Amino acid sequence: MSKKILILAGDGIGPEIVAEAIKVLEAVRAPFGLDLTLDEALVGGAAYDASGHPLPEETLAAARAADAVLLGAVGGPKWEPLPIAVRPEKGLLGLRAGLGLFANLRPAILCPQLADASSLKPELVAGLDILIVRELTGGIYFGEPRGVTRLESGERRGVNTLVYTESEIRRICRVAFDVARQRNKRVCSVDKANVLECTELWREVATEVGRDYPDVALSHMYVDNAAMQLVRAPKQFDVMVTTNMFGDILSDAAAMLTGSIGMLPSASLNAEGQGMYEPIHGSAPDIAGKGIANPLATILSVAMMLRYSLHEAAAAQAIEDAVSRVLDQGLRTGDIMSPGMRQVGTVEMGDAVVAALASAG
Ligand code: IPM
Ligand code: MG
Repeated sequence: MSKKILILAGDGIGPEIVAEAIKVLEAVRAPFGLDLTLDEALVGGAAYDASGHPLPEETLAAARAADAVLLGAVGGPKWEPLPIAVRPEKGLLGLRAGLGLFANLRPAILCPQLADASSLKPELVAGLDILIVRELTGGIYFGEPRGVTRLESGERRGVNTLVYTESEIRRICRVAFDVARQRNKRVCSVDKANVLECTELWREVATEVGRDYPDVALSHMYVDNAAMQLVRAPKQFDVMVTTNMFGDILSDAAAMLTGSIGMLPSASLNAEGQGMYEPIHGSAPDIAGKGIANPLATILSVAMMLRYSLHEAAAAQAIEDAVSRVLDQGLRTGDIMSPGMRQVGTVEMGDAVVAALASAG
């Protein structure tokens, strides 16, 4: 049966990088016998401009009907003055909530060819391979009450709520332990259990889940220490599992260790294995339309999509190998450029990956 893929290019560099990712997806279609139907819809600022809402009803319906969603990026200065409720980011949060995408997998892997690009010394990051498992549909991002109100005194008061149920914690911890089994069998659960009761519960539930995985080593770390350890000795980590907001922050830090936020894909999965795939970088409005953005994170997101939602591991591997060969050839976009390499633009990079796929036969 044909698998439905919904393409949401979004804003900024989104359309440019997604175009290259589609080119790569098209290139593996015939060789791997993939039966795919590609559809497109609007999200983020582009959707707001067209319809007055960052997540139109028809986009959410199309996403629900799809086997997988490929997203570029959303947001930009143009929409920053808008009220939070209709900002482009709400489109993204609405997709996460609307599809129940509670499990966000954010790998931070150092490509050996890019070791010099890290902000840390090469010996601290050589071979780095961390997977951050971020809870994505709960916690302070979605907790109620929320908002800004005016007190009787006239002073304004802002509130957001950190809330997790046991079952929300349990299911994300299970995802972390399950993937750890396929990796180096270590899970570090990150919380702030010394201060926040909600994450004290997080720690208790993580420990309970851990009992079902005696073959996986579980450790716990406070988030402030985890941030420090990530920049001190990042190779101590295998899988990290944490709340929505801690995961947001730690995954940016981990990404920077690889020196190339333009290289990192991500997957957001629901209980049915349906997923949304996107680069972890943003819409980069400063370079949008210039044809210089790095499309590799989006291309690698296609590989993740093939692996996790479409169960086409061979096609996924072929794409990852092709990206690696293109880096071996010395091709670099501006963000990962280093002396002696050849700088290319977005389209040329996409073409090179397609060519590398073809030459692999
Ligand atoms: C991310 C982003 C989003 C988040 C924003 C754009 C809403 O920072 O995916 O990490 O905070 O989750
Ligand atoms: Mg973020």
